[in-house]
Amino acid sequence: MKRRLEPELMDTDEQAAAYASADFNASNTLFMDLLKRLGPGPLDGACALDLGCGPADIVIRFLRAYPKASCDALDGSQPMLDLAQSELDRLPGIAPRCRLVCDVIPSAQLPQAHYDLVLSNSLLHHLHDPQVLWRTVRETAKPGATVLVMDLMRPASAGWAEALVETYARNESEVLRTDFRNSLFAAFEPAEVTEQLVAAGLDGALEVNVVSDRHLAVMGRLPE
Ligand SMILES: C[S@@+](CC[C@H](N)C(=O)[O-])C[C@H]1O[C@@H](n2cnc3c(N)ncnc32)[C@H](O)[C@@H]1O
Repeated sequence: MKRRLEPELMDTDEQAAAYASADFNASNTLFMDLLKRLGPGPLDGACALDLGCGPADIVIRFLRAYPKASCDALDGSQPMLDLAQSELDRLPGIAPRCRLVCDVIPSAQLPQAHYDLVLSNSLLHHLHDPQVLWRTVRETAKPGATVLVMDLMRPASAGWAEALVETYARNESEVLRTDFRNSLFAAFEPAEVTEQLVAAGLDGALEVNVVSDRHLAVMGRLPE
């Protein structure tokens, strides 16, 4: 099935609110499990970056799991960051370790060769040019940094996409079901992501894995 682009930013209040109220527990738990596999030692005390953080559920899970870590969390959508800020305001033990950054990648606001860990969940499929993400990873991560990028995988057919929407978003709002369907059409196949890593010169360090019936994950460590 051919890739069909969707808008990069989720920047209407309605879209951000629908996304923030949806149940992503299964996929966000999977993300944290993958991260634990990449740890453990170096991640506590890590200075992390989350690209396309949305309402910051993964940032909060990460900062809870690693109490000495800090995280810069970037998103180009102010409505998403407003929701992230509201969540953080209720978590005084975590908020001081998180800095929200409103910008799109490539971002001049991010320090270079700075982060011990670069995270991203469900951003890649939004990007019209995926190399923007891989360049940002290369430029912002320290040598030896850990990288975990998880995203949806494009299904083989429209029928399979519809089956995934029915299975995983049956009880969600129409806004969210439409977003999920559009995201599946916009996502990459694992072989396409492998080609992106080759083009970015990251294929020796990062590996593409299929981690569920709808997710792939790119994980590994950059060279020292
Ligand atoms: C599907 S959401 C994922 C949010 C979060 N990572 C999560 O796992 O729940 C994708 C987010 O990426 C943001 N985004 C898309 N393109 C972007 C870009 N070029 N720069 C920064 N953020 C972007 C969107 O605004 C949206 O909040």
